[in-house]
Amino acid sequence: MKKFLINGGNTLSGQIEIESSKNSLLPILAGTILTEDKCIIHNLPNFLDIQNMIKILNHTGLNCITEDKTLTVDGSNANCSELGLELTSPLRSSIYAMGAYLGRFKKAKISYPGGCDIGLRPIDLHLRGLKDLGAKIIEQHGNIYCDGSKMKGGKVFLDFPSVGATVNIMLAGVLTEGVTTIFNCAKEPEIVDLQNFLNSMGAKVKGAGSSTIIIKGVNKLHGVEWTPISDRIVAGTYMIACAMCGGKISLDNCIYEHNQYLINLLSRVGCNISHKNKNITIESTRRPKCIQKIETMPYPAFATDLQPQFMALQCISTGNSIIVENLYETRYKHVPELIKMGANIIVKNQTAFVSGVERLYGAEVRASDLRAGAGLVLAGLCAKGYTTINSIEHILRGYENLDTKLQSIGADIKLIDE
Ligand code: EPZ
Repeated sequence: MKKFLINGGNTLSGQIEIESSKNSLLPILAGTILTEDKCIIHNLPNFLDIQNMIKILNHTGLNCITEDKTLTVDGSNANCSELGLELTSPLRSSIYAMGAYLGRFKKAKISYPGGCDIGLRPIDLHLRGLKDLGAKIIEQHGNIYCDGSKMKGGKVFLDFPSVGATVNIMLAGVLTEGVTTIFNCAKEPEIVDLQNFLNSMGAKVKGAGSSTIIIKGVNKLHGVEWTPISDRIVAGTYMIACAMCGGKISLDNCIYEHNQYLINLLSRVGCNISHKNKNITIESTRRPKCIQKIETMPYPAFATDLQPQFMALQCISTGNSIIVENLYETRYKHVPELIKMGANIIVKNQTAFVSGVERLYGAEVRASDLRAGAGLVLAGLCAKGYTTINSIEHILRGYENLDTKLQSIGADIKLIDE
């Protein structure tokens, strides 16, 4: 059992390098299934989700070798298009194997995906999109059986701009004859990164970043050398940490445009933020002001993956605020833990009412999922006294060396492995 022990109250100062985006890498790694050639991926962070995705590639018959932070994937012997629960349950993104298998092998048998326990998270849009391209899909005994032998380009209308459904249709569509158009697709930067990655392999995809993606199917993809974009949620988490603890930190390897919504909010709470090339600097000199109301929405609006962290900030702000979580039914599991630390929060359905308090106090709490855990770390960093965060395995799924990076900017945080 791993836990974080945090002695809160230190201001932050120094420089941190932001790692590659987890949510960009996961579809890209699945994308390596699409070619027989070698793919080389640089700047690979050591996240559990990434290791689990590499296990899926190995199981598929790809040969994966990691040296330092570079992963080489050789797909010449890939031969398996079946994935059982053991490999699908640890992560939601295991479902990307479905699109990639359909692309390369024209068939797939896959168990349902797992992932953070933050809501229902169905995959109906993934399945409907693939059926719109002619895939025959049967759901039986906990498995999804897909026959893609008659797949052809077509029009897919997503009811909601789902990131995962957009990824799966892109992965299946690039090697499917004809033109596939995805309407109301996700516009996240990670979708743009996937498009650029696939195009570098010889795919013909355009429109990512807008609400319509057009894919012209090709027969074959070739190998590629790729460096993924940096993680905007990790960068956002450190920015919020500085806003809460005070001080000045500088974040390297950041893409300012990807964090503009959050940066606007942080300016409104009273932080000074500047950027140059791939660096963002944030300074906070006083208690944050409250933001009256924020709602989570698909990109480019406020990210659900920053909601727990921003709620931690609202807990110590100078007024009352309302947070509406529109994406996930149960992404408020950090609330009872924040309340143990002295926060004043009431939740009614998808809406949280937060009254800022001057100070949070250290307590023993539990990370229920990745971002909830990140929110608790931030609360612990600015709280008075000691905070113990249990079940931090969830946090380590998406933050590389969180403890040592925070230590390097002045935080008193220790990882305890019992
Ligand atoms: C991606 O999940 C991210 N994961 C999530 O990050 C992120 O919270 C989410 O996008 C939204 O930004 C990865 O990229 C690996 P969705 P995904 O499909 O693809 C509903 C983190 O903390 N929906 O856009 O699963 C769904 O229930 C994680 O890093 C359907 O109804 O998200 C949710 O309400 C957590 N049917 C909404 O859409 C479907 O078929 C958004 O889901 C698919 C989704």
